[in-house]
This record gives sequence, structure tokens and C-alpha cells, in this order.
Amino acid sequence: MLETSIIIVEDDLRLRAVVEMYMAKAGYNNLGAFESGTAALQFLAGRAATAKIPDVAIIDIHLQDDMDGIETARQMSERYRVAVIFITGLDDQKTIDRAFCIKPMAYLLKPFTRAQLQLTITAALYQARLEKRLEETNKQLNREIEERLQLARSVDEITERERERLGQDLHDDLGQILTGLAIKAQVLKNSMAKAGVPEVATADEIVKLANQATSHVRDLSHLLFPLVLKNKGLGSALREMASYTEGHLGVACQARCESISELEGDPVLATNLYRIAQESITNAVRHGKASHIEITLLRTGDHVILRISDNGSGMKPGIGPGKGMGLQTMQYRAQLLNATLTLHHVPSGGTMVECVCPIRFTQAVVATDGGTGA
Ligand SMILES: Nc1ncnc2c1ncn2[C@@H]1O[C@H](COP(=O)(O)OP(=O)(O)OP(=O)(O)O)[C@@H](O)[C@H]1O
Ligand SMILES: [Mg+2]
Repeated sequence: MLETSIIIVEDDLRLRAVVEMYMAKAGYNNLGAFESGTAALQFLAGRAATAKIPDVAIIDIHLQDDMDGIETARQMSERYRVAVIFITGLDDQKTIDRAFCIKPMAYLLKPFTRAQLQLTITAALYQARLEKRLEETNKQLNREIEERLQLARSVDEITERERERLGQDLHDDLGQILTGLAIKAQVLKNSMAKAGVPEVATADEIVKLANQATSHVRDLSHLLFPLVLKNKGLGSALREMASYTEGHLGVACQARCESISELEGDPVLATNLYRIAQESITNAVRHGKASHIEITLLRTGDHVILRISDNGSGMKPGIGPGKGMGLQTMQYRAQLLNATLTLHHVPSGGTMVECVCPIRFTQAVVATDGGTGA
């Protein structure tokens, strides 16, 4: 078994001698006994660079020094992570509360026997080891969570690139073909009309369908790959989204966006916030049957806040992660950004999705630039 090394901080000489005697009999390694916290801390400071730090410090709560036992313990556990055992009498509640803040491993109530001392030290060591193991496991878990998040971010980036490629292909290939088709159909319709061919009405329908298809492909390619997000930033992209919502979905939509320079250096942040807004608007229109939606993008301190509020029917009580993917995907995106995403009931009716996201880049330049979707 590893030898347990201990220091004692006790200004009652008789009690100190008793503790030292008990410790010797129990076979503990006594590294030093001190009258004051200052002396004990000096000893540890000298020792820290070269020799082993004690496993346990037995400290009297009431020391006559300027620095009492609680302050001594605080500095010791903070600097050297020594497991603290307090020697105490029947103390008042205020002292007990202060002592608890240090998170001591155990208490020794005066007077105590050798067996009690030994038991308390064993319990304190056991507790300290458990806490250390717990701390290591926590660190490991945090590392794994960060690795997974990193992986998820990469997958998300790949997905975004794929959307981008698909959007561009749709726009450049299918879009061009359909535009050509619409023009040719129009020319054909014109000649048929000139020649007085009766099927001109069908040709007219073909022209209309070809124009509709061109416009759908264009909208789809913009949804898949919001070029404006890349070129002009999140604020402009959200304003364009608001204008699309008004124009195509027939729902009044306003976007009030601060221009936040950090977002320009962080496409992952901007893209994920954009997708959260996109899904929130779809939900507001589809489920809430909203007639008015407001998008807000602002910065407070080190955080970007995105809010999408609607005046729709509001979320039905008890709605959680169900078959739909939207809310889950939004939460997942927020997680990727270390952000929090909350759904609020708007008191006057409707829903507000709020995403509060830490800014990862630090150079702060914020200008206000309000606007509507129109
Ligand atoms: N703005 C909103 N107003 C009213 N209800 C909402 C709103 N947003 C979400 N909901 C409710 O939450 C449910 C879950 O939304 P979610 O986006 O996860 O799935 P979905 O929209 O049904 O499907 P998907 O997003 O996969 O197409 C919706 O079915 C709806 O009942
Ligand atoms: Mg949805």
C-alpha cells in the first residue's frame, strides 16, 4: 500500500502532540506539524517544486493566526489540491457554512480517539481518490463530447458543401435548360399564333409550365445554396428570406438585423443560424398558420442572438421531439455552435424560437442596419 503523507496545522500544542502520536502509531508519514496556516503554506511552497505534496492536511478551523483554518484550507486545496480534514469543536452555523465551501473531505470532532482519527483519514483518502477519478472521467467525457461535436461539425460542413454543389448544378444546368425550353416554347407559341394554329392554347400552357418550372428551380437552388449568405452575410440573407416569405408564401415578414462582423469570418456559425431561421419560418407558416413573422438578429456582449417570432397558433402543449426532424435538427445545429435554442410561447399567441450563440471570433465591430423583408 502507498504510504499516506500528512501535515498538521494546529496551534494547540497539546492537541498537536496527540495527533502526531496517533499518526505515528497508525504508521502515517508525518511531513510536518505547523502552528499557523502561513507557516504551513510556506512549507508547501518550498516543497512544491521538488518533493511530494502531502495527501492530507489536518487543519484546525480556529487558528490564532491572521489566517484562520478555513482560509488556510482554501489556499491549500486550490494551489496544491491537498485533501483537507478539519479539526473542529461545536461551531456556529456561519463557520460551518464557510468551512463547507472549501469542500473538506472530512471533519474530526474534538475530542477524538486514535481509531476515529484513523477512520477519518481513511475516509478522506477514499473520498479524495473517488473525486479524482470522477474528475478524470469527466475530463475524458468532455474530450469525447468535443471530439464528437468536431466530427458532427465536419459532417455538417460536408452536407453544406453538397447542398451548395446541388444548388449550383440545379441553377446552372437544369435552370439553363428550362430557361431555353421556356424561350423556345414562347417562340413556338408566337409562330403558332401567327399561323392561326388551333393548338396555340396548348402551346401557351407549355410556356406557362416551363416558366413555372424555371422559377421553382431557381427558388430551390437559392434555398439549397443561399449565395447571398456567402456574398453579403447573414443579415442580408435573412432579409432576402423575409422577402421570399412575403413574396412566395404570402406571409408578412420583417427582418431586423444588426450587421455583425464576426459572422463574416465564421461561415459555419452564419450557415447554421440561417438554417435555423429557415426551419423556424417553415414551421411558423406550416403549423402555426402565422400571418406575421419577425426575424431579429442582434449582438449582446459575446453572443449573437437570433429570434424568429410568429403570431400563429402557438405550439400545442406537450409537443416534443416527435416524428418531425425540424426541431431536432435545430437543436443539433445549436449544439454544434455551443449555443442554446429555446422555444417560447408568445403571450399574445404564437411561438418564438430563440438561439443564443457565443461568438467564436473576438474582433468586435457592430453596426446597426435595420430593414424589412420588402
Ligand atoms: N411555429 C410553430 N407553431 C406551431 N407549432 C409548431 C411550430 N413549430 C413547431 N411546431 C410543432 O412542433 C412539431 C414539430 O416540429 P418539427 O419541425 O420538428 O417537425 P415537422 O415540421 O412536423 O416536420 P419536419 O420539420 O421534419 O418537416 C410540429 O409538428 C408542430 O406541431
Ligand atoms: Mg418542421
